[in-house]
Amino acid sequence: MGRFFSFCGYHFNFYNIGESWSPCWREKRMDISGTKELAETAMDYDRAKELKAFDDTKAGVKGLVDAGIVNIPKIFIRPPDELAQELNCFKTRLQVPVIDLSGIENDDRHKDIVDEIRIASEKWGFFQVVNHGIPLSVLNEMIKGVQSFHEQTFEVKKEFYSHDRMRKVRLESNYDLYQSRAANWRDTLTINMVFSDQLDPDEVPVACRDTTIEYIKNVSKLGDTLFELLSEALGLKVDHLTDMECSKGGTFVCHYYPACPEPDLTLGVSKHSDPAFLTILLQDQIGGLQVLYENQWADVQPIVGALVVNIGDLLQIISNDKFRSSDHRVVANSVGPRISVACFFTGVAVPAKLYGPIEELISEESPPVYREFLVREYLSKFFSRALDKSGLDHYKL
Ligand code: OGA
Ligand code: NI
Repeated sequence: MGRFFSFCGYHFNFYNIGESWSPCWREKRMDISGTKELAETAMDYDRAKELKAFDDTKAGVKGLVDAGIVNIPKIFIRPPDELAQELNCFKTRLQVPVIDLSGIENDDRHKDIVDEIRIASEKWGFFQVVNHGIPLSVLNEMIKGVQSFHEQTFEVKKEFYSHDRMRKVRLESNYDLYQSRAANWRDTLTINMVFSDQLDPDEVPVACRDTTIEYIKNVSKLGDTLFELLSEALGLKVDHLTDMECSKGGTFVCHYYPACPEPDLTLGVSKHSDPAFLTILLQDQIGGLQVLYENQWADVQPIVGALVVNIGDLLQIISNDKFRSSDHRVVANSVGPRISVACFFTGVAVPAKLYGPIEELISEESPPVYREFLVREYLSKFFSRALDKSGLDHYKL
């Protein structure tokens, strides 16, 4: 095959210069089909040590870019088998359905919207919504706020840096840093309301406080509307999913994907499905999100004012496989930063509440596919492994 990447197989050390740091490199060119060299490369560095060195900087991927790196550290380079697979991976020009929610109060239009949502949720597990009622200014301000947060000085940001999942507000680069095969090219501010619905505005970083509070208010309302439409799309009564409290327990993850000097070698987010009932995602206009559709990657094209909606694992379980939680990922980009905000609706974790396939969706022809689960248990399993390992199989009967 003889396709050369000019950068697989580096050796690097970190050294500190005051609060900032820089990597230094020993470059080695490598053919990704050259297995001998791959084997050597795998042995060639102390991954655990380098992960810790990166984590200890608390400066995230943005810190690397600010330090002026031109080659990405090896901890971010995808394993050779994955990179090789990418060469055989096809892309489709098919587009995720775009659903216009205007006229939703009109009976005929309402019925069509429900049908469109049902088809998209069965086939794609993904769709975009436009005319959803959230003003463009609220979306734009949210993106700006997240960008301002991530672009503050290291001194301000480092106070938030933590891998403690019980912390309501935290900044981290790669929550699965020590479990994944390759780190992702992104930093994330998380606002976690899974364990308590109450959010004191003072807990939100000042740089994005007002915009975030306004966005949460709007997106929670849209979440309720979508759960009603999804209930109808499943043939259930309109408030079935909201009665099950699927729309509770939002977690907001505010991603910052710096421009990447070697985007072919890493990912912004590894392939995964979401550990939630539903995700509403706000993305800026840069692009990079892809969804796996019939074994091909489809770009989720940014549309001004649109929000991306996707079915998560928990909705796939309770819908008894009627709706699909699709794998998706974000490719790295030489242009950036890219900003996105995912709101995960994870349901009630505390007090413990048992969820399982919805009785009305079970019949002789459609026996239960999954056992019941607790949200807390599902999440803790999810966070104990690398992002790219699906959790659904674990609950299959
Ligand atoms: C996620 C996710 C996609 C994006 O946070 O789970 O898939 O575009 N994000 O940032
Ligand atoms: Ni996701």
